[in-house]
Amino acid sequence: MRNSYYVSEEELKKQREIMEEIARENRGKEVYYHIETYGCQMNVHDSEKLAGMLEEMGYKYTEDLEKADVLLFNTCAVREHAEVRVLGRVSQIKELKNRNPNLIIGISGCMMQEKHIVEAIREKYPHVDIVFGTYNIYKFPELLWQALNSRVQVIDVIENTQNVIEGLPIRRDSNLKAWVNIIYGCNNFCTYCIVPYTRGREKSRRPEDIIAEVKELAEKGYKEITLLGQNVNSYGKDLGGDINFAKLLYMLNDIKGIERIRFMTSHPKDISDELIYAMRDLDKVCEHLHLPVQAGSNKILKRMNRRYTREHYLEIIDKVRANIPDIAITTDIIVGFPGETEEDFLQTLDLVERVRFDGAYTFMYSKRAGTPAASMPDQVDDEVKKDRLIRLIELQNKISLEKSAELKGKVVEVFIEGVSKRDPNKLTSRTRTNKVVHFIGDESLIGKLANVKITETKAWTMQGELVEVLR
Ligand code: 5AD
Ligand code: SF4
Repeated sequence: MRNSYYVSEEELKKQREIMEEIARENRGKEVYYHIETYGCQMNVHDSEKLAGMLEEMGYKYTEDLEKADVLLFNTCAVREHAEVRVLGRVSQIKELKNRNPNLIIGISGCMMQEKHIVEAIREKYPHVDIVFGTYNIYKFPELLWQALNSRVQVIDVIENTQNVIEGLPIRRDSNLKAWVNIIYGCNNFCTYCIVPYTRGREKSRRPEDIIAEVKELAEKGYKEITLLGQNVNSYGKDLGGDINFAKLLYMLNDIKGIERIRFMTSHPKDISDELIYAMRDLDKVCEHLHLPVQAGSNKILKRMNRRYTREHYLEIIDKVRANIPDIAITTDIIVGFPGETEEDFLQTLDLVERVRFDGAYTFMYSKRAGTPAASMPDQVDDEVKKDRLIRLIELQNKISLEKSAELKGKVVEVFIEGVSKRDPNKLTSRTRTNKVVHFIGDESLIGKLANVKITETKAWTMQGELVEVLR
């Protein structure tokens, strides 16, 4: 099996030594960190790794920015809006640095893989101490050490390498549910998308490393895992041998203690029968599929380089539902892709009506420098995009409401995740189909599976009554 991707043990040892050194210096002191995370689950999980390293170095988490000694922004480049927001935040934070000159400010993530952004930070944001990208988060201890010991801006962004890093400390946000990376990067080059440029080509983790991580999680009491990748269906293709995503699911399903397995994201062109049967047959794999369709018109799908047609997509949905009748299907949709006419958009609305998604993340097309779509002719006006987005959201909300209402009066299995933020008398839980259910119950039930009868429904959250605790 290929393992040329791996960062050398020697390099990791160096980083561990630096972590120990910083921890020694921090001993006896109260030092705090704060991380602001933008974008997808992949980024959320990268932030858990950065937090893990910071905690090893003696820093404690704080909500209070005024108290922070290290402040990180883990950024997203998928849409312009998020980029503008981050740069705005980084400008604001200058004030904080004026009040506390010892504060270390770092920026990481996908935006830092864009040359023009790094240039802008170098020129216009000298109060930023550390800049690093997506391929070298393992080097964060060394970069922090440099920043602590010199007052010049440390920029360490490397081009697409095939780095897979095992063994980083992770400070997980939850002690019941965990994100687990299985594949990094993407080979698909959808013409609107910047991810293949910021996260590089597909790199699968070795199955034995994934299994070891999940076993360790199970031993620590975790009950649910979500397997992460830009395209989990490609898992294993780059490893050689006969491992693939469905086979990985079989292996993970055998791990004692884990009750639920979820995954995201899937690409329609790679959904195999083997995967559908695995989802049908494996008791822990939840009945939820996030399957981004992006558009309903074949002309637009082609321009997006999605490599499936609307007919093919609808066939996959039929097959999935024939095998897993109660499955929830969610999607991502972009409106206003270059060349999208009203006709094309109506095809998207039509597809949404046909599939009847449980939920959809909807976006206005955002031009990303360096991607093919950015220089396509017939860019759509913002006003038109906005109008289409509103019409799409209206339709999807109506369908989401109707789909949830179908559950009223039914008894469903939920995993109890915590106390409801809105109503402290209630617990918050999720169905296998990933819908949120609130119900009255004792805190001692957190971490358990239970049957709950649905009494009231909204688009994505529901109210219920406890029927029985399962385990
Ligand atoms: N503009 C708008 N939405 C985008 N996405 C990815 N790139 C862009 C872009 N340039 C959306 C896609 C993807 C989701 C994560 O973000 O729908 O599935
Ligand atoms: Fe971007 Fe397409 Fe890859 Fe998803 S599959 S990360 S949309 S290029």
